[in-house]
Amino acid sequence: MTAGYRIVENARLDARNTFGVAARAPMLVEVSDTSALAELFGYAMLRDGPVLVLGGGSNLLFAGDAPGAVLALSSQRIDIIDNQDDAAIVRADAGVGWHDFVLWTLGHGLCGLENLALIPGTVGAAPIQNIGAYGVEVRDRIRAVHAYDRHDGRVVRIDAAECAFAYRDSLFKHDPDRYVVTAVEFALLRTPDLRLDYAGIREELAAMGIDGTPRASQVAEAVIRVRQRKLPDPALLGNAGSFFKNPIVPAATAETLQAAHPAMPLFRGSSDDTRKLSAAWLIDQCGWKGHRDGDAGVSAEHALVLVNHGHATGLELLDLARRIATSVQDRFGIAIEPEPRIIGATW
Ligand code: EPU
Repeated sequence: MTAGYRIVENARLDARNTFGVAARAPMLVEVSDTSALAELFGYAMLRDGPVLVLGGGSNLLFAGDAPGAVLALSSQRIDIIDNQDDAAIVRADAGVGWHDFVLWTLGHGLCGLENLALIPGTVGAAPIQNIGAYGVEVRDRIRAVHAYDRHDGRVVRIDAAECAFAYRDSLFKHDPDRYVVTAVEFALLRTPDLRLDYAGIREELAAMGIDGTPRASQVAEAVIRVRQRKLPDPALLGNAGSFFKNPIVPAATAETLQAAHPAMPLFRGSSDDTRKLSAAWLIDQCGWKGHRDGDAGVSAEHALVLVNHGHATGLELLDLARRIATSVQDRFGIAIEPEPRIIGATW
C-alpha cells in the first residue's frame, strides 16, 4: 500500500460493472487520496495510455477488456462548505455512493436531489452523463465540478456554466481522456422547490397516503418506489439502467411520426423546434420487451433496459443492442444511441 492508492495488476472487473460481465484491466488503481493523482499520472502507463475512470460501473458495457489502466476513486468526504439560512453548498468526493449522498442531504434537511434517489453509481460519475430522472437533471443542482486535468497536471474547479451540460451529456463525456472528476459542489435548498409533474410521481404520493405538500424525503420515497417497480435491481439482475438515450428529433419529424402513431409519447426537446421521443416506446413497439437470447435480454418490466440473466458476455449484449437499434431504424426511421459508454468496441 502506497500512500493514497493501491495497485492491482491484471484485475478482474466482473464485480465492478453492474452488467456483471467478465472483463479485465492490465492495471487497476484504487485511489483513496486524490492528491496522489499527480504522482500516478507520472507513471508511463497512465501518462501515455488510455485511462478509464470507473465509478459504480453502472453506466458502461465491457465489450472487451479495458485497454489500459483503470482508476477507481474511493474518497468519501462530504462537507457543507457554505451554510446559509435557506441554502447550503455541499462538496462531496467522487467516491461517495450517489444514493447514499442523496440520503445524506435529506438527512441534513437539504433538498434538491430527492427526484434523483436510487440512481446507481457515484457522485463523481453524476456530472459526466448529467444523470436525470423524474423531471430533474443533476445539472440543476451542481455549482461546480473539481477534476484532475491531465493537460494541466493539476486539479481544476470548473464552474457549472462551463461544464456544457445537456441531456445525458457534458464536457466530461466529450473529452473522456482529459478529466478525472474528484469532487462535486452542489447548491441545495432548505425550503423545498419540489418537482412533482413527471408522470407517476403524484400518483405514487397519493398511493402512499400523502395529500397536500409532501416533504422532500417523501418525494424521494415515491421515486424509490417507482424505480423499484419499473427498473430491475442491478444487484439481482445485471443491467446498466436505460441502455438507449431518448432520441431528440426535429419537431416536424416527431409530428409526422405521431400522426402515424397517435399513441406515441412525445416530450419537449431542449428547444422549441425539437422533440424528445420515448426510446422505450419505440423498442416496445418492435416487440423486444422481455426478449431473451441466451443470457442477454431485454427487461420484461422496461423496454429500455438490457439485462444479463447470468453469463452473457459484453459482446452478446452489444449484439442484441445493435439488433434492437436496427429494428427501430427500419420500422420508424429513427436512430437510437446507447447511453452507457462502450469499452472495447465502437457502436
Ligand atoms: N414506455 C413503454 N414501454 C416500456 C417503458 C416505457 O412504452 O417498457 C413508455 C411509456 O409510455 C412511458 C414512457 O415510455 O410513459 C417513458 O417511460 P419512463 O417514465 O420509464 O422514462 P424513460 O424515458 O424510459 C427516462 C430515463 C430514466 C429515468 C426515467 C424517469 C433516459 C434514457 N432514461 O426513462 O433514466 O429514470 O426517464 O425520469 O432518459 C437511466 O438513464 O439509466 C435511467 C433509468
